[in-house]
Amino acid sequence: MYTQAMDLVPQQSESGTKETSVDENELQLQFDARIDAGEFIEAKDWMPENFRKTLIRQISQHAHSEIVGMLPEGNWVTRAPTLKRKAILLAKIQDEGGHGLYLYAAAETLGISRDQMLEALHSGRAKYSSIFNYPTLTWADMGVIGWLVDGAAIMNQVPICRCSYAPYARAMVRICREESFHQRQGFDALLTMMTKGTAGQRAMVQDAVNRWWWPSLMMFGPPDADSPNSAQSMRWGIKRISNDDLRQKFIDAAVPQSEVLGVRLPDPDLKWNETRGHYDYGPIDWKEFWQVVGGDGPCNRERLAARVSAWEDGAWVRQAAMAYAEKHAELQPAS
Ligand SMILES: [Fe+2]
Ligand SMILES: [Fe+2]
Repeated sequence: MYTQAMDLVPQQSESGTKETSVDENELQLQFDARIDAGEFIEAKDWMPENFRKTLIRQISQHAHSEIVGMLPEGNWVTRAPTLKRKAILLAKIQDEGGHGLYLYAAAETLGISRDQMLEALHSGRAKYSSIFNYPTLTWADMGVIGWLVDGAAIMNQVPICRCSYAPYARAMVRICREESFHQRQGFDALLTMMTKGTAGQRAMVQDAVNRWWWPSLMMFGPPDADSPNSAQSMRWGIKRISNDDLRQKFIDAAVPQSEVLGVRLPDPDLKWNETRGHYDYGPIDWKEFWQVVGGDGPCNRERLAARVSAWEDGAWVRQAAMAYAEKHAELQPAS
């Protein structure tokens, strides 16, 4: 669990003494200038403590979202309608586990251990995306999660490929490529049901769209006016586009896609606004959002319990790996 960032504070000079000669204000000015110039910050570079803490919070929450996001879909592996759909679903869930690993590794470069991050998740102190606290009731939910949930994730995550913290930006490049496959496979599954399916299957797709549309819009976070940390994150180049602007981009992309599918989006206020050049949309139930974020969504307890029991059930694997590593180290000839 040692990371390259563990030697960040206190910094050691080559002679082994602490570097106290460089004034902190000067370092701050240099950091601000690098951010303004659009430079990337690497793990070993000096950074303000709040920048480091903000990134640890954001990257670890992102990692937690990836691995908790495996749970609602894992529920459907044994009930996929064909071998092809089962193989696709398994590959997607495996990708999400990989995304979690890249992101935990990126967060570790900031000087926090994976054990600390997982402890925060398991104790309920750390958050993950509230979308994964909704249940997956039918097979159509697998398609709608790919289309809308992974679609919203892409909209959120593409700008992070240009985030000022380089290890996070690098992880996001690969993640976004895989998310694009996730979105397409979801849309393809829905299109098959809508164009070749029965009336019952089409109704199942519509029902899933009705349930997932609004929670998907909430994935972009509260309105800009109620998002106090956003301005600082924009200043630091961690966040590039505001919550409301990303939400609008997502809606503008989703409406024509819903027309191709032949589903109705459950918002009577949704209509093209010629003047704005965007779709207008109805009010979002932020009370529901805060309730789910606060731990009181339909599946919060179930999701957390599944993660905690996976951690406990896996204890023997971690112990065996450690024992093997120690034995292997003992057998190495002394140099
Ligand atoms: Fe992912
Ligand atoms: Fe995904």
